[in-house]
Amino acid sequence: MSTKSPKTYSIKNYGCQMNVYDGERMAELFDAQGMTAADDKNDADIVVLNTCHIREKAAEKVYSEIGRLGKTSRAEGGPMIAVAGCVAQAEGSEISRRAPTVDIVVGPQAYHNLPQMIADVTQGKRAVDLDLPGLDKFSQLPPKRKTGASAFLTVQEGCDKFCTYCVVPYTRGAEVSRSWSALLDEAKALVDSGAKEITLLGQNVNAWSGEDDKGRMQGLDGLIRALDRIEGVRRIRYMTSHPNDMTDGLIAAHGDVEKLMPFLHLPVQAGSDRILKAMNRSHSRDSYLRILDRVRTVRPDVALSGDFIVGFPGESDADFEDTMSLVRAVGYAQAFSFKYSPRPGTPAADMADQIPTSVMDDRLQQLQAQLMADQTAFNTQTEGKICEVLLERPGKLPGQLIGKSPWLQSVHVLAPGLTIGDIVTVTMSESGPLSLKGDPIMRAAA
Ligand code: 5AD
Ligand code: SF4
Repeated sequence: MSTKSPKTYSIKNYGCQMNVYDGERMAELFDAQGMTAADDKNDADIVVLNTCHIREKAAEKVYSEIGRLGKTSRAEGGPMIAVAGCVAQAEGSEISRRAPTVDIVVGPQAYHNLPQMIADVTQGKRAVDLDLPGLDKFSQLPPKRKTGASAFLTVQEGCDKFCTYCVVPYTRGAEVSRSWSALLDEAKALVDSGAKEITLLGQNVNAWSGEDDKGRMQGLDGLIRALDRIEGVRRIRYMTSHPNDMTDGLIAAHGDVEKLMPFLHLPVQAGSDRILKAMNRSHSRDSYLRILDRVRTVRPDVALSGDFIVGFPGESDADFEDTMSLVRAVGYAQAFSFKYSPRPGTPAADMADQIPTSVMDDRLQQLQAQLMADQTAFNTQTEGKICEVLLERPGKLPGQLIGKSPWLQSVHVLAPGLTIGDIVTVTMSESGPLSLKGDPIMRAAA
């Protein structure tokens, strides 16, 4: 059966910011083909589900969405369905078997081929592309131009760390860094399109390395310092990092690069050395804490963030208490915490002593209560501080805009006359667990 070429698209992102970035690149690819974003996503000619495979729940959500979309066949006016991202990579053509309404299965390193795959589908074929050819796709995509006030920039993809619970090394492939010149060109283009903040992204962003324009090897700190020299860049962030790649140079950058925001997302996953070893994390509780101390020495106001997994196979009450004591010792400004989810093909899925769900539920509840209390306390101690807020989106009230503090807190600003993209100096007040109010005291030069 041949069908008409799609004219409108809708892209639904699941999971991490890397998928958000990939979704933006797909949108610009479709725009370059003369397609447009559907006004109503329920009416799109093609729906791309840009999926996440990190935990079972994330993957299952995709199948229920496919089920919903597939109720109307294409012959009856339903959309072409493409599954992209990590579920596509991990499950491959198994998806087409389990969900025959899916027309396209495309992995995270192959989505530059979407136009050809769409053409194949219009000829009545099913299209599958799961190649993992490094970062070839970026050179074949139209240059990234569309941005908000805060832009994502993927600098590195993939992971060589092989934590025993994690699918990323299998779905995203080996660590590969984009080139210095491509990244600086893209950063400049984003600034020219209105970005004030650039968040460098990578599964292991601080493993980025590459030659600069003089042929010298640089790490992420060198790249940050080069971005710092671009005039229109006002703020720089990066995530997600691995403790083993926190180099001396990167720690030093937190102390002397003013545009590098005082925020560090550094997952630890667990506080027990025994569990860290079983996770193959290759750092210890103490080596992790020492890194945080060094960052705090050069940047005392740094806000710390992390990821945690509870209920890794074999985790005892004492191991979990080690996680709780680490959390209490650090005092995170925010954090993400998850129940361990066995992922097919990873070593931990076959380990003995899988933890019952009821125990995981209980531990997660305790951990999240502590993390929420610490986040609330962090927000409370920001009250009264004067800081800059980058306004990023409209709020619910008339004249209200929502932006981010240097410490990545959401700040609500009632600011008639200000617009998205402005950086406004405020006094912080009325803190809650999830946000604060910012009272403008003067307008900084845009
Ligand atoms: N189960 C639960 N959480 C996981 N993460 C990665 N793999 C798993 C898994 N199998 C979490 C880690 C990681 C974050 C992105 O997701 O905390 O840092
Ligand atoms: Fe997964 Fe570990 Fe790599 Fe992070 S460092 S992406 S948790 S394997």
